Amino acid sequence: MYLPRPLEDKITLPYLKKLKQKGERFACLTAYDYSFARLIEQCGVEVVLVGDSLGMVIQGHDTTIPVTLDDIKYHATTVYAGLQNAMLMLDMPFGSLNSPQQALDNASELLKETQAQVVKLEGGITQLKTVEMLSKFGIASCAHLGLQPQMVHKMGGYRVQGKAKSAAQQMVETASDLQQAGADLLLLECVPAALAAEITQKLEIPVIGIGAGADVDGQILVLHDILNVTVGKKPKFSKNFMQDQTSIQAAVSRYVAEVKRGQFPDQSHSF
Ligand code: KIV
Repeated sequence: MYLPRPLEDKITLPYLKKLKQKGERFACLTAYDYSFARLIEQCGVEVVLVGDSLGMVIQGHDTTIPVTLDDIKYHATTVYAGLQNAMLMLDMPFGSLNSPQQALDNASELLKETQAQVVKLEGGITQLKTVEMLSKFGIASCAHLGLQPQMVHKMGGYRVQGKAKSAAQQMVETASDLQQAGADLLLLECVPAALAAEITQKLEIPVIGIGAGADVDGQILVLHDILNVTVGKKPKFSKNFMQDQTSIQAAVSRYVAEVKRGQFPDQSHSF
């Protein structure tokens, strides 16, 4: 069901930048279908990500690697149908951005077919040229540093990144380079809170954290984690917001409120 959505009513990149400048935090969450997209937007979530985490929480795979461009397209179309104003961001799946040209072609197709506003790409410094190319062609991007789940086998597991001084320094430099190349947002996953705070202060673009402490501009979590329906071990950085709540709406509203008040994440959910 598509309803008219004028751009001026939408959550836009300049709007998120303004929140950053005012020191106001914003809440992001993953969604994979119409009903949950609608529900989480009504609870105040500003940015909705169709993440390749769908490979794990929807498809039951061990990693995000099997997720295809068509999977993202399908879920994005259903999510878009549920949104009125929230920003829709899509993950570029594994294998869809092996060169700047391939990424440009795939990102163009994704945005054209789903009406999303932003694509998110893992890969850090290796995606510098791609970020530059996307920017040149008018495609908004969110770079992704820290833990990169698509590289889980190369990284040898899901580990906190940037703990060593040299790795931390490298991440600060890469973040600046990505901003310079034209990234519109940066997502930091599983990095020490102090490092995330330093990067957030240095950058003009909004920084979204997951397992990156409270001193970033926005927070994101996987919907199934906060609703406590994820199978298996839960990541330390996530939180069961269903606890003490009697509905999914109450749990998501609680998440949004805690993010905006700076109460989530606390130290027990940070590194
Ligand atoms: O795929 C995903 O859901 C993500 C978030 C965990 C940030 O990339």
